[in-house]
Amino acid sequence: MKGKILVTGGTGYIGSHTAVELQNAGYEVVIIDDLSNSTADSIDGIEKITGIRPVFEQLDCNDLEGLKKLFEKHKGIQGIIHFAASKAVGESVEKPLLYYRNNIVSLINLLELMPKYDVKGIVFSSSCTVYGEPDVNPIDETAPIKPAASPYGNTKQINEEIIQDYIRSGATIKSIILRYFNPIGAHPSTEIGELPNGVPQNLVPYITQTAIGVRKELSVFGDDYNTPDGSCIRDFINVVDLAKAHVIAIDRMLGNKSEDKVELFNLGTGNGVSVLELIRVFEKVADVKLNYKIVGRREGDIEKIWAEPTKANKVLGWTAKENIEDTMLSAWKWQLKLREKGIM
Ligand code: UD1
Repeated sequence: MKGKILVTGGTGYIGSHTAVELQNAGYEVVIIDDLSNSTADSIDGIEKITGIRPVFEQLDCNDLEGLKKLFEKHKGIQGIIHFAASKAVGESVEKPLLYYRNNIVSLINLLELMPKYDVKGIVFSSSCTVYGEPDVNPIDETAPIKPAASPYGNTKQINEEIIQDYIRSGATIKSIILRYFNPIGAHPSTEIGELPNGVPQNLVPYITQTAIGVRKELSVFGDDYNTPDGSCIRDFINVVDLAKAHVIAIDRMLGNKSEDKVELFNLGTGNGVSVLELIRVFEKVADVKLNYKIVGRREGDIEKIWAEPTKANKVLGWTAKENIEDTMLSAWKWQLKLREKGIM
């Protein structure tokens, strides 16, 4: 066993895939989640894939007393990967206080407890949303942070600053901040994947749910952008590739290989793919005709953004390996599995 890692939000989409990769790499995983946007079924999925059932406690990271009890009960946690957060951009505009409380207080609680319980490092789930609309693409880590377009985006920026300030103040912890581009797809086993509550806000679950008939039609938000086909461009990254980067980050922090107490990396493929291109890829690999229509732009959307991932490639030795076809096929197989199980 390599060490005990606390994964907050570990029953969620990226968290569950990361728990699998941590266990595959020999780490002992303790998952906490308040199950506000996921179910404990993913614990079964993680066990089926890895043969190991991770420890799971239903707990909200805003519950400071609950967290203290957790660290007492599961002594020896060496690192944290902090996924637990609310992430619907539109909802954050309607309920800003909910987002500020959920996403910021939870991080403060963890940071405060880390030195007390001798936890050495924290990997923080950030987002390319901190760059706003880039002046140039691909975008690297030195690009300026732009004013956030939503309270959700603001929580990511503020949390990055909280980590930096805390460590600058002399706190005896390390951190690696990971800025994700657009994670998509599912584990090839189809035991875990993305399962949003209610109507999906993100593109890929909306595509697969439309293809299987849960949704009538996909709305493509805008075809009048300044891009080759007029639809927005994103850097869609396979969720298993993304999960693997977290294991490397934990190895790096706990193995004292970090060059700075806070390090920051973009996690993307380096390729921009448009919304309409992604739909074509899906139609090809799933062999279905997708029912979609072009509608007006969605407020707050970025026109085009894709990563310059060279820093992660060189410093972490991590590269996104999966291609977009296999990734979209994995998302479709996951949707078919959900249908088979009668879930959706
Ligand atoms: C958004 C956030 C990102 C966050 C992520 C998590 C911004 C600018 N980006 O990513 O920080 O981490 O959500 O949920 O706040 N689309 C459609 N039809 C749909 C759904 C989406 O056309 O039904 C289009 C969007 O207009 C966009 C693209 O698909 O161009 C990707 O959208 P989405 O999956 O929601 O991700 P982002 O908006 O890039």
